[in-house]
Amino acid sequence: MNIQWYPGHMTKAKRAMKEDMKLIDLVIELVDARVPFSSRNPDIDDLGAGKARIVLLNKSDLADERLNGKWASWFEAQKIHVVKVDARNKGTLKQVQSVVQEACKEKLERDRRRGILNRPIRTMVVGIPNVGKSTFINSFAGKACAKTGNKPGVTKGNQWIRLNKTLELLDTPGILWPRFEDQQVGVKLAMIGSINDQILNKDELACELIRFLEVHYPQVLSERFHVEEKKEQPELVLEEIARVRACLMKGGELDMARAAALLLDDFRAGKLGRITLEEPKE
Ligand code: G4P
Repeated sequence: MNIQWYPGHMTKAKRAMKEDMKLIDLVIELVDARVPFSSRNPDIDDLGAGKARIVLLNKSDLADERLNGKWASWFEAQKIHVVKVDARNKGTLKQVQSVVQEACKEKLERDRRRGILNRPIRTMVVGIPNVGKSTFINSFAGKACAKTGNKPGVTKGNQWIRLNKTLELLDTPGILWPRFEDQQVGVKLAMIGSINDQILNKDELACELIRFLEVHYPQVLSERFHVEEKKEQPELVLEEIARVRACLMKGGELDMARAAALLLDDFRAGKLGRITLEEPKE
C-alpha cells in the first residue's frame, strides 16, 4: 500500500488511532529492522502513552544480525519489549505470545487485584505502510481468524480476532505516517522500497546506496558485481554495474536507470546480504 500523507489525512489517521487506542491494552508496533529509526512513527510514544508496548523488529531476515541485536538492546533500554521476527515465518512469531504476557504483567496484576479474571488482553498492530502489518496479522492469527464479532464502540467496522483465551487482536492494523520532515528518512524509506515518492530519482538513490555500502559493507559490491569499489565516485561504480550486467540502451549506450533498478532490487530482495541502514544513537 502506498499512502500519500498530507496534513488532512494525517489528522484523520491520528484521530482514528486515538479512538482505537481507547479499546486496547497493548500496542504491537512493527518497525523495519533495516531502518528501525526511519520506519518509526514520530508520535507513537504519545499515542501509545499508558499502554503496554511491544516492538517487532520485522524483516529481521533481511537485516544485519549484529545490528538486530544492537537495536533490540536499544529498545529494551527504552523499556519497550522487543522481538526479532520475519512476519512470513510462523516459527519466528512463537516468542511473541510469551512477550505479550510479559509486557502486560501490570495490567493482568491490576485486573487480578480488582477481582477481574480472564479478561483477555486486547491488542492492535500498528506501523507505517509496507512494514509487514498484514503479513504479521495473517501469520500470527492463522486459523484463529474466527472473529469474535463486533463490539460496541469499535470504529470502522473493526472486529476482534480471538487468538486464544487470553488475547484478542483488532483485525485491522493501524497505519501510521513516517517522519517525512526528515530528508534522510525519506531516502532510507525509498531505498528499502517502502515509498515510491520521487524524493530522489533512482540513479541518485542507487548512488546513495553505493556510497553507504562502500563505507559500511565493503566488498559487498565487488563480490556481487565484480566491480571495483571507487570511493567518492558512486556514479562510476554504477556505470561499471551497467557494463557488467549488460544494461544497454538501443544505441549501445549504458542504461544507468536499469542498472540503478537492478542494484536497488537486489538490495531489497536481500541478494547483497543482510544489511541494516542505520545504527541506534548511543
Ligand atoms: P503492510 O500491511 O504493513 O502494508 O505490509 P505487508 O504485510 O503488505 O507487507 C509488505 C511486503 O513486505 C510484502 O511483500 C510482504 O511479503 C513483505 N514482508 C512482510 N514481512 C516480511 C518479513 O519479515 N521479511 C521479508 N523478507 N518480507 C516481509 P510484497 O512484495 O509487497 O508482497 P508479496 O510479493 O510478498 O506478496
